[in-house]
Amino acid sequence: MTLANNTSTDGTALRIGLFGFGCVGQGLYDVLRRTPGLRAQVARICVKDRSKPRTLPLGMFTYDRGEILGDDTINVVVELIDDANAAFDIVSSALRAGKAVVSANKRMIAERFDDLLAIQNETGSPFLYEASVCGSIPIIRNLEEYYDNDLLDGLEGIVNGTTNFILTRVSDGEGAYEGALASAQRLGFAESDPTLDVEGYDAVFKTVILAAHGFGVVVKPGNIVRRGITTVSSFDAAVAKRHGYTIKLVSSARLADGEVSASVLPTFVRDESPLASVRDEYNAVSLHAAFSDAQLMVGKGAGGHPTASAVLSDIAALRYAYRYEYKKIAQGLRPRFSQRVPIKIYARSSRRDLLEQIPWSTIEIEHRSPDGSYVIGTTVLDELSASEAFRSDETFIAKVV
Ligand SMILES: NC(=O)c1ccc[n+]([C@@H]2O[C@H](COP(=O)([O-])OP(=O)(O)OC[C@H]3O[C@@H](n4cnc5c(N)ncnc54)[C@H](OP(=O)(O)O)[C@@H]3O)[C@@H](O)[C@H]2O)c1
Repeated sequence: MTLANNTSTDGTALRIGLFGFGCVGQGLYDVLRRTPGLRAQVARICVKDRSKPRTLPLGMFTYDRGEILGDDTINVVVELIDDANAAFDIVSSALRAGKAVVSANKRMIAERFDDLLAIQNETGSPFLYEASVCGSIPIIRNLEEYYDNDLLDGLEGIVNGTTNFILTRVSDGEGAYEGALASAQRLGFAESDPTLDVEGYDAVFKTVILAAHGFGVVVKPGNIVRRGITTVSSFDAAVAKRHGYTIKLVSSARLADGEVSASVLPTFVRDESPLASVRDEYNAVSLHAAFSDAQLMVGKGAGGHPTASAVLSDIAALRYAYRYEYKKIAQGLRPRFSQRVPIKIYARSSRRDLLEQIPWSTIEIEHRSPDGSYVIGTTVLDELSASEAFRSDETFIAKVV
């Protein structure tokens, strides 16, 4: 039984096998209950921990994935678990069983992009994952459908709500990084182990997905230049402010001269630029295209209900047999991936030797004071990322745009 036979526009109900009943899984269950018009019904839920209390009758749950994957009456699998390896097994088995799959698992998608592409080609089963990038913001379908041409030349995003919340507090002068992180944890915007967010890994996973759909380049997460926000200080925020900037963690992918570069870096964005006004836990993506000015999409990037709204939209799209066509990849243009691009940066450290060993092309400002020394100048992205200064936790380095 295939999804197209079962669910296209003939009004047949979608029977969902749901994996995961945590923040997003429960959000989805609630959102589906409130949208009866979709005629989508959760048939079974697979979770992991038998001892956890559940908010639904226990008969809804199973701990055996085979009960969903082997059930021919279930035509849609929604994968919302927090384990990337188990998620890949579930998603690939479901696609091979002829089921349509919806997922929010950016880590699994970014790390296994090529494998997932191959399985989709081999099986013809649809695999949608709008919720994996910027939660409720419909960016992937936008790139697939509206920017399926070669007008797009740049994507810049605030794609992680935790770091944006922390940087908003630090930029507002409400204290240093540690206090802002503690407050994000208290309010539920940061995990108890925030490494994936604050070190920029989460943003890297999303950047991989954006670069694939935006430019047709499939990059391994480890090849994206990454720096997190853990060393940002009130001094950096004050310098940024004095020069007319706000500090954001920016995911960026750019196409120039047939080559794509991509990074996740703390960034001094101009106070008057649209990204500067995106505060707290909000996410945003700014799209740059030939013949049009920058366009900004803003919305909630995380949380049960906002993320579930994107999952719901994917489920609804399965009704008309929607699938990603990976148009930029299919066009076969596959631009080269290169990190050999000029970049303007702000680098601060109490160690002069670290600042001096950055391979500067030009220096615009060199500031030395007992409070902190910094340099603003230009360098080359791949040379910068190979430098000891870039990897050191005794520096703070931000792109300047
Ligand atoms: N939270 C957000 O705002 C957000 C936003 C965008 C994307 N996402 C993505 O959405 C996914 C789910 O996130 P979440 O925040 O909802 O996670 P979560 O609250 O930690 O819930 C995870 C769920 O997965 C289940 N699970 C873990 N391993 C499993 C396995 N091997 N088999 C079956 N079930 C398993 C857990 O089962 P138990 O209940 O038995 O422990 C739990 O119900 C992740 O990929 C995340 O990156 C989350």
